[in-house]
Amino acid sequence: MGQGTNSTAKKRDGFSSSFGVLAATLGSAVGLGNIWKFPSLTGAHGGAGFLLVYLLSTLLIGLPVMIAEITLGRKAKANPITALQTLAPSALPWWLIGASGVAAAFLILSFYSEVVAWVFAYVAKALGGSILSSSPEVTQSAFSALISDPLQSLLWQWGVLAFIGGILLCGVTKGIEAITKKLMPLLFLLLLLLGAVSLSLEGARAGLAFLFSPQFDKISASVVLTAMGLAFFKLSIGMGTMMTYGSYFRDDQNIPATAFRVMSADLCVSLLAGIAIFPAVFTFGFEPSSGPSLVFITIPAVFSQIPLGHGLMVVFFVLTAIAATGAMLSLMEVPVVILHERFGLARGKATLLTLMLLIVAGSGAALSHSTLAEFTVWNMSLFDLADYLSSNVLLPAGGIFIALFVGWSWGLDRFRQAVSNQGRLSNAALANVIFFLLRYVSPLLILIVMLRGLGLI
Ligand code: PHE
Repeated sequence: MGQGTNSTAKKRDGFSSSFGVLAATLGSAVGLGNIWKFPSLTGAHGGAGFLLVYLLSTLLIGLPVMIAEITLGRKAKANPITALQTLAPSALPWWLIGASGVAAAFLILSFYSEVVAWVFAYVAKALGGSILSSSPEVTQSAFSALISDPLQSLLWQWGVLAFIGGILLCGVTKGIEAITKKLMPLLFLLLLLLGAVSLSLEGARAGLAFLFSPQFDKISASVVLTAMGLAFFKLSIGMGTMMTYGSYFRDDQNIPATAFRVMSADLCVSLLAGIAIFPAVFTFGFEPSSGPSLVFITIPAVFSQIPLGHGLMVVFFVLTAIAATGAMLSLMEVPVVILHERFGLARGKATLLTLMLLIVAGSGAALSHSTLAEFTVWNMSLFDLADYLSSNVLLPAGGIFIALFVGWSWGLDRFRQAVSNQGRLSNAALANVIFFLLRYVSPLLILIVMLRGLGLI
């Protein structure tokens, strides 16, 4: 164990260009969260009001924590556990943040990989035209047939895991960076195309009103927690993903500027996804349902009524698959690099072991719509439970400790040095503001929102 920091003899893999850093980091942030969670949560919880809470959470909490994670990762050039062990000035067990990150990665992957499995299955179905029907009953039964078939669910999930594992086997530069550099621009192009088509439909106004008209009375404590949890999930923070990617950052990369770009581009993708989805949904008089049924039941029925809808439906599922790929890569990279650096497994073996563990961990969520459909905890299926616990408990809790570590243990001097690339960037004032947020504002806000949202105070 523990060969992470003394492996300097062999050069550590990392992102090779500035664009590569941006593409991979954005690839992690952009994911199913943008397409499956953000638009429907925004619509359901008060439109612009929810958006405002989300933006505040992102600016006051998300962005500082993201910058903190990337900075720590780059400084230590190691996986989250080793990074916190080497950077911690005191003997406190800060490395536990890294360990809980691995747990969060497995929890998220267990349900995420299942939704991604449906997306890949739907790319095939859309290509074959088998889900082309304007009747929601037909698209509903096609979806039910897929998710209630345990074998199909498992096989698609394993296929997706193997695909992502295959990219990870190629390494950080040749795998993660190379693929996200190609996929991210394509994702924007496809999304712009769909957004333009959707806005040209007659329901555009009603769709935009659903998404953006402010309803502040819908904002309760649990809605604020949802918005904050979404900010964590969206930015891939609170579990060591960004710390891991930070460890691949180049030394001359401007961290705050990159984080800001990633946050803004991620927001654009989320808004564009909403613009691509809701005008079309309203044009054909569908209910703006939320969660998986929006993507897998409503969308096929909607596209079936648009001219060139078959092609556009393929575009929609391909772009969703692209978004999911970048996010899955970053989720799986966390356990892979920890097995590699902490337990001395070769990268290939670490990837295979992660795959096998995920096949076991993911089977609960994969079967939660079939064999385990009756099995609930706190009134939630295993799938919903993993989703709820990760976004609303584990990631925010991880965020509190990362903020506390930088704000109270690592300290302002080290933080300023690292964020300014050892004085080469003159961003001391900005670093001071971020540090202040990390030391006082973010941990307190997260704690209050969590306790209120969970109904504990
Ligand atoms: N940010 C990804 C999304 O929006 C999900 C994710 C969460 C990825 C946490 C990595 C870590 O879908």
